[in-house]
Amino acid sequence: MAGEIKIFPDIESLNNFAAEKFVEIGNEAIGLRGKFSVALSGGSTPKSLYSLLASDKFKDKIDWSKVFFFFGDERDVDPGDENSNFRMARENLFAPLQIPEENIFRWQTDFLDVMPAAVDYIWNLEDFFETDGIEFPRFDLILLGMGADGHTASLFPFSEALNETELIATFNWVERLNATRLTLTFPTLNNAANIIFLVAGEEKAAALREVLEGEYDPEKFPAQKVKPVNGNLLWLVDAEAARLLQ
Ligand code: 6PG
Repeated sequence: MAGEIKIFPDIESLNNFAAEKFVEIGNEAIGLRGKFSVALSGGSTPKSLYSLLASDKFKDKIDWSKVFFFFGDERDVDPGDENSNFRMARENLFAPLQIPEENIFRWQTDFLDVMPAAVDYIWNLEDFFETDGIEFPRFDLILLGMGADGHTASLFPFSEALNETELIATFNWVERLNATRLTLTFPTLNNAANIIFLVAGEEKAAALREVLEGEYDPEKFPAQKVKPVNGNLLWLVDAEAARLLQ
């Protein structure tokens, strides 16, 4: 089951729906457990969603002091680097909303090499979710994007981390980028209560058709492997990215 797919005429209507879902899922989690754990996606697509959440339209719809932010993946760059997913979220979401430091869990890419940074992140996750290295953390919500090559988080085609079944987070060498990335693994992604993909733009159309309608080949199209074991999967797609869907 590829989950539910909703197609929107443009990114504005897609973001409005996504922001409403974010608030709905968040308030439900806060109501049930007093806090809301969310893993943010990086790249460029979610930037406008983050600034919408921080806007007058949404900023008063949830108690931000009870929202705890993680990152589905991160580049091996300093947090102030223009390519940092943390920096993009800080500029568009954390700073405008004045989210307290203690509510933000970023990958320590400035202090540590990728391996210790991954271990440090695992410790943070196990501590926050009170798991003991046996079961996987269960995020209330994970936001994901999809690359034009069908990757998601930093789980790229034919990369090592695609087959990780034990670690909750790891580092991942990406040949095509000639770079190492940091990423949550599929067992962690698929243990989430809610996963929302945000996919927009003409350049994603071919990969989206393969992921949603093509043959199951997750080595080639890793986003196919996102299947929450016990959770909701929702694809929010704009008309351009959905152009080739049947
Ligand atoms: C990252 C992201 C990545 C992203 C896709 C889509 O670190 O780049 O987490 O998985 O979601 O690459 O990126 P765009 O939204 O920029 O197209």
